[in-house]
Amino acid sequence: MSIALIILAAGKGTRMKSDMPKVLHPIAGAPMLVHAMRAGAALTPDRTVIVAGHGAEAVSAAATEHDPDAAIVLQSEQLGTAHAVAQAAPALAGHAGDSIVLYGDTPFVQTETLERMLKARQNHDVVVLGFAAADPGRYGRLVMQGDTLERIVEYKDADADIRAIDFCNSGVIAAKTSVLFDLIEAVGNDNASGEYYLTDIIAIARARGLSATAVACDEAETLGVNSRSELAQAEALFQARARSEAMENGVIFYAPDSVYFAYDTMVGPGTLIEQNVVFAPGVTIENDAHIRAFSHLEGCHVASGAVVGPYARLRPGAELAENVKVGNFVEIKNAVLDEGAKVNHLSYIGDAHIGAATNVGAGSVTCNYDGVMKHHTEIGARVFIGSNTMLVAPVAVGDDAMTGSGSVITRDVPAGAMALGRAPQINKSGLALKLLDILKRKKKKREKET
Ligand code: UD1
Ligand code: CA
Repeated sequence: MSIALIILAAGKGTRMKSDMPKVLHPIAGAPMLVHAMRAGAALTPDRTVIVAGHGAEAVSAAATEHDPDAAIVLQSEQLGTAHAVAQAAPALAGHAGDSIVLYGDTPFVQTETLERMLKARQNHDVVVLGFAAADPGRYGRLVMQGDTLERIVEYKDADADIRAIDFCNSGVIAAKTSVLFDLIEAVGNDNASGEYYLTDIIAIARARGLSATAVACDEAETLGVNSRSELAQAEALFQARARSEAMENGVIFYAPDSVYFAYDTMVGPGTLIEQNVVFAPGVTIENDAHIRAFSHLEGCHVASGAVVGPYARLRPGAELAENVKVGNFVEIKNAVLDEGAKVNHLSYIGDAHIGAATNVGAGSVTCNYDGVMKHHTEIGARVFIGSNTMLVAPVAVGDDAMTGSGSVITRDVPAGAMALGRAPQINKSGLALKLLDILKRKKKKREKET
């Protein structure tokens, strides 16, 4: 069946106290809008329509960056949730399947829950996602009669009896697209807020003899973000979920609560992640790798058997093959390290390729930036880069070559050669003792003078 997603994202989010539109505030490295889009995208919708208003340009940019096919429609005045959905009508003209309405500020709805709603749609014209609220507060209340949802009453319009109901509206609604827009046309704004309520379509549907029901989900899924503190709670909830999912998948932790995931982090079973590791977006780690404490990874790929850290930084484009070792205080950026390569101490490797089984000594640097442009360093297989080698890019070191410690390498090194790019050493016999003697006498003289 063909599915359209309508994601409401026009609200300002006044309580965030931010110039950024609410739906762009990030959770686990992605705007909350993207979380909502991802939940819906798993249903393989044939159209996704984002209703933008406040900060529409930025919202549109973020949405299309994530999904270039998403359509953005503008709701220039926020007259209510029904009015918001109505703005999507032209973009969905002629759509023959179902539409699902999601909120851009409700990032945790699970795909499996949306699937249950679509299943319920087989027997009902309109399906609403509800939850039993621990504190129903100001949520809209679902008035059920058996399996039938009779109407939704907004808190402001509810009397004491209705307010006593704890089965609440999450905001997520599924209906046949044509039916949804027919119902919305009949919605008025004669209510306590003077808004066009999407929730009114239930009573209208019932009056027309259509059937409506509610599917229930866990309250955590419907968590909406309205303030900084709710954003922090949402982050915590995401992290808790990501850690327990990782453990279910066979990832090993010493202190899961100290490990931070991004929305798209992928870690294979048997991989050990030590304490205080942070994943920014774009990280994939294969099976049986080892990420040691206090490492930060972003936009990188780590193959199985590789060991990273402690205190390592992998930046975008870092690509570690099987059994690579990247040790303490090492930064790798836009560089491919072939199987078994080692960069174990205090080094910077950027814009480079390092061949298999090559060893890069402590304190070595690929000097990739000339102040204007970035340049590539090519290092072959089984190379030995002596400690504190400066590789001034663009430069290449051939297979099985060596560089002497402290070398500044500015010219290519042929395969098998030894490159020494440093001042030759001179030893002056007895000079150290002589020098010390002179200095000691100087000091004594000064002490006498004062
Ligand atoms: C809405 C529901 C309420 C439900 C609650 C769940 C209505 C009338 N009420 O109330 O039953 O319990 O959500 O959180 O639907 N938006 C627009 N354009 C608008 C108005 C809203 O895009 O003109 C967007 C907002 O940005 C937000 C979402 O729709 O993402 C919900 O709007 P909000 O004003 O927060 O609705 P609530 O009053 O919380
Ligand atoms: Ca809200």
